[in-house]
Amino acid sequence: MMQIDIISVVPDLLQGPFSHSILKRAHDKGLVNIDVHNLRDYAYNKHKSVDDYQYGGGSGMVMMIEPFAACIESLQEKRSYDEIIFMTPDGVTLNQSISNELSLRQSFIILCGHYKGIDQRIRDHFVTREISIGDYVLSGGELAAAVLADSVVRLIPGVLSDETSALSDSFQDGMLSAPVYTRPAEFRGMKVPDILLSGNTPEIEKWRFEQSILRTQERRPDLMK
Ligand code: ADE
Repeated sequence: MMQIDIISVVPDLLQGPFSHSILKRAHDKGLVNIDVHNLRDYAYNKHKSVDDYQYGGGSGMVMMIEPFAACIESLQEKRSYDEIIFMTPDGVTLNQSISNELSLRQSFIILCGHYKGIDQRIRDHFVTREISIGDYVLSGGELAAAVLADSVVRLIPGVLSDETSALSDSFQDGMLSAPVYTRPAEFRGMKVPDILLSGNTPEIEKWRFEQSILRTQERRPDLMK
C-alpha cells in the first residue's frame, strides 16, 4: 500500500479531496493511505509559532525549520520515505510522466508552504524534489498537494477499473484524447459522429486516433514530436 503523508498548517483544506470519489475508493481498497499532519502540533515554543520574520528584512513571514524537522523526523521513525516533496511555484512543473514515476513509489511526504516561503535549509536538507503545478501562485501548497496526490493515486494499479483506465487518458501517450459522446444520439440537431454508432471497432479506433492527432496539433502543437 502506498503511504502519503502531507504536512500542512491548514489540514482541514485537505479533508475534502481525499474523502471522495477515486481517492476514497483507492483508500477503501487498501491501495493508498493518506495522512495529513498539522504542522502546528510540532511547533516547539509555547506560542505554537510556525513562522517568523525573515533575516535581512523584507515583508512576509517565513516558515521555520524546527517544526518541519520535528514532524518529518517523527514520521521517519516509523518508516523510511522514497521522497520528500515540497510544493512550490519555483519547482519543476508537474506533468504526466512525473505522476507516472511517483505512482511507482511506496511512500512519500509532501510539504505545503505558506506565507513568503519556507526556510531554505528545509529545502536543502530534507526535500528530495520540488514540484509546481503551474505558473501561477496559490496561497498555500495544499491545493497543489491535492492535485499531485490525485494525479498519482489514480495511476496506482488497481485504483481505476477497466472502463476508467488511465491508458486512454490525455497525455498518457503524449497526446490529447479524442472527443467522447453518450446518449442521446441527437440533441437539438447536434449529432454524434456516425462512425461511433457504426459498431465497426477498427474504424472507430482509427477515427479516435485521427481525432487525437488533430486535437493535439490544434491545441497543443508543443506535444507533437
Ligand atoms: N504553492 C503556491 N503556488 C504553487 C504552485 N503553483 N505549485 C505548487 N505549489 C504552490
